[in-house]
Amino acid sequence: MPPPAWLANNMPTLLRPGLLLVTAIYHFIMTLLEVIFIDRNPKSLFAFTKFRHRAFARLWTYNGAAMSLQMAGSCFEMMQKTSGIVLDIGPGSGELVGRFDSSKITAIYGAEPAVDLHPGLLEKAQKAGFGDKYHALLCGAEPESLIPALHKSGILTVSGTGGTAESGIFDEICCLRVLCGVPHPKETIKGLYALLKPGGRMLICEHVVNPWREEGSVKARIMQAVFTVLGWPFFMGGCSLQRHTLEFLREAGEWEKFELEYAVEKDVVPFVVGELIKKL
Ligand SMILES: C[S@@+](CC[C@H](N)C(=O)[O-])C[C@H]1O[C@@H](n2cnc3c(N)ncnc32)[C@H](O)[C@@H]1O
Repeated sequence: MPPPAWLANNMPTLLRPGLLLVTAIYHFIMTLLEVIFIDRNPKSLFAFTKFRHRAFARLWTYNGAAMSLQMAGSCFEMMQKTSGIVLDIGPGSGELVGRFDSSKITAIYGAEPAVDLHPGLLEKAQKAGFGDKYHALLCGAEPESLIPALHKSGILTVSGTGGTAESGIFDEICCLRVLCGVPHPKETIKGLYALLKPGGRMLICEHVVNPWREEGSVKARIMQAVFTVLGWPFFMGGCSLQRHTLEFLREAGEWEKFELEYAVEKDVVPFVVGELIKKL
């Protein structure tokens, strides 16, 4: 007997994240086995954040390229326009780095906490023509990790470590499929706002909580909760399907321009895409 029409129509959208979750669980288990039987270092599992980055890096190494052929909304067009001194948050293995126009960029800093993704990132940055303009930083977006790394790289001068930038230093900050996984997102996004120069641009392509009260979908919103209970954040490197990123961005500070649009808003993984300009 064929499934009812509503189920047949919704199946691909509702179950696609399920396939990704199964793939993530597979890579999580493989990483666990590598640590125990190849590295013979089960104690390292106590450094769970490091382990999680490694497991996610394995998943991304196998699946990142396929998942980067298409991006929601006008993401690729916005990347082409990126210029000046740029901070790219969580660039992964650099699947998207070739979408920037390297001739417009003075210097680019990629804040990527998964060390296993760095070789791929640097290789793709070279292929994209960045030469020594690309700086891969081994850190996360959260201020307590990012600020010391920027300090060490020489671009940020602060007194001591763990401080905040007094005035912005970046012309552009790119957040592409990454804010879903940063710890304490409100504070982290505020920290990024502080690093942006007045008049600077923040480029956003992020998946968020389904806007079911407006143009979204109740079914998709329920499935977000179901996948979360099934362990999505645990197996997907801390990624949250239910994050209110749009609100966190709006509240981060004063914006001259705040233009974000939903893409695939009926989906379990709906995106907000657009650009924000910091008030002068
Ligand atoms: C889904 S991938 C996206 C990679 C890239 N931005 C893209 O769109 O192709 C998420 C990336 O964020 C990184 N990440 C995880 N936690 C992070 C954090 N706290 N700060 C910055 N990046 C993080 C992951 O290691 C991974 O490379």
